[in-house]
Amino acid sequence: MGIYDLVVIGAGPGGYVAALRAAQMGLKVAVVERYKPGGTCLHRGCIPTKAFIASAEVFRAAATAAGYGIRCGKPEASATEMAARKDRIVGLLNGGIEALFKKRGVVLIKGSASFADPRTVRVETADGTVTLGLGKCIIATGSAPARVPGIEIDGNTIVTSDEIVNLREIPREITILGAGVIGCEFACLFASLGCRVRVVELLDRCLPGFDEDLAREIAKAMKKLGIELRLGARAEKAGVSGGRVSMVLAGGERIEADRLLVAVGRTVDTSRLGLDAAGVRTNPKGRIPVNAHCQTNVPHIYAVGDVAADVVQLAHTASRMGVVAAEHAAGRTAKFDPMEVPSVMYGDLEVAGVGLTEDAARAGGRKVLVGKFHFRGLGKAHCDGRTDGFCKVIGDAVTHRVLGVHIVCAGASNLISEGVLAVRLQARLEDLAEMVHPHPTMSEAIMEAAGAALGCGTHSA
Ligand code: NAI
Repeated sequence: MGIYDLVVIGAGPGGYVAALRAAQMGLKVAVVERYKPGGTCLHRGCIPTKAFIASAEVFRAAATAAGYGIRCGKPEASATEMAARKDRIVGLLNGGIEALFKKRGVVLIKGSASFADPRTVRVETADGTVTLGLGKCIIATGSAPARVPGIEIDGNTIVTSDEIVNLREIPREITILGAGVIGCEFACLFASLGCRVRVVELLDRCLPGFDEDLAREIAKAMKKLGIELRLGARAEKAGVSGGRVSMVLAGGERIEADRLLVAVGRTVDTSRLGLDAAGVRTNPKGRIPVNAHCQTNVPHIYAVGDVAADVVQLAHTASRMGVVAAEHAAGRTAKFDPMEVPSVMYGDLEVAGVGLTEDAARAGGRKVLVGKFHFRGLGKAHCDGRTDGFCKVIGDAVTHRVLGVHIVCAGASNLISEGVLAVRLQARLEDLAEMVHPHPTMSEAIMEAAGAALGCGTHSA
């Protein structure tokens, strides 16, 4: 039986980062992973989609080049070449994680782990069962796409995000169920490559969880891309016939397309982890409640990332929780603060937010200052030809503490880090408004929005 200071179950962005940090602090670490290191993020999520989005961005740039004074021929998108590029990137990053494991002495065991008791994990490998004794354990087993009753995933015509990243052709027509982050990202990606896209969403808005102003702006942009957005619509069932998918909405309307992408959230399956044998409790959805150090109800067992209860299911949440759990397991006092987690929707136009939304900030009658600045007021936005969108900064009216920063524009995913820092350092609106921002950059919008909240924005109308 191998004995380890720390056994990590799952090598996604939560588990592999935890393992690397723990090994860096001198712990003897084993990671159990049934597939390859990298998890959903690397193999079926963030990285594949961002690789495709980068290809779509080049396509867009080529298609709009004449507007910048550059003449080139009509661009053509090759799905197979885009997919090959994506596979190369995934392979490269996968190799990078394995190399880091080797360098730090992390033992990677390929197989499926479950608890035999609180201090023992059994791993079913291709060569039989391996038993691991552990001082501490981090559960980082992630999540899987949620299903809808009445809609069977066949992996080809009706797919989830797991399968769609392996498509080798751009569908002519696609229906997307769910206007969350995954639904909206794929809708914009496919529409920008010339596919006819319909999005069906239960709620009366897209991007639940994001500031509503931003969701409205992205809905506008989606319509501009030709996407048909059906809000407040419930899908009842879907089936395939003659290679086409037909979906029936409540009320009886039928929608047909070449493909259906089901993107209605993610679920967690902890039923085969033997959590009872370890004494680890779950909530009714199978997710594991944790404290600020990411400890479960069994103090030497931690849970991080999507499998943990009450956290936003994002790769960077998982990685931060992984570091916190590893440091706490090594005797340090790290804490995870969900307020410091930015949410991002990637694409041609991006949405990014951190801290409280305007509605959440106003809840309970709190007085707030809100400043907004549109990118059309910035020189750099005009130079780039990217004037859509705005930045919104929310501060407490009494203390001026920055409560939230929300951005919709090209490249918002990179700009939001300034907002994350402001929230983390409990900065005041004055800090953002007085901070010298390089000119000309898109980041000036954050300074202007904070200035607008204080009534002293230089370029605000
Ligand atoms: P989501 O929870 O963000 O959105 C799912 C949407 O589907 C909701 O708007 C919901 O109202 C709708 N819906 C549910 N059932 C429906 C039905 N029967 N008919 C019509 N609409 C229905 O889930 P999503 O987009 O699948 O993403 C899953 C997770 O992955 C999220 O936690 C997300 O944050 C994360 N993720 C993050 C990315 C990023 O950071 N850029 C990229 C991809 C995923």
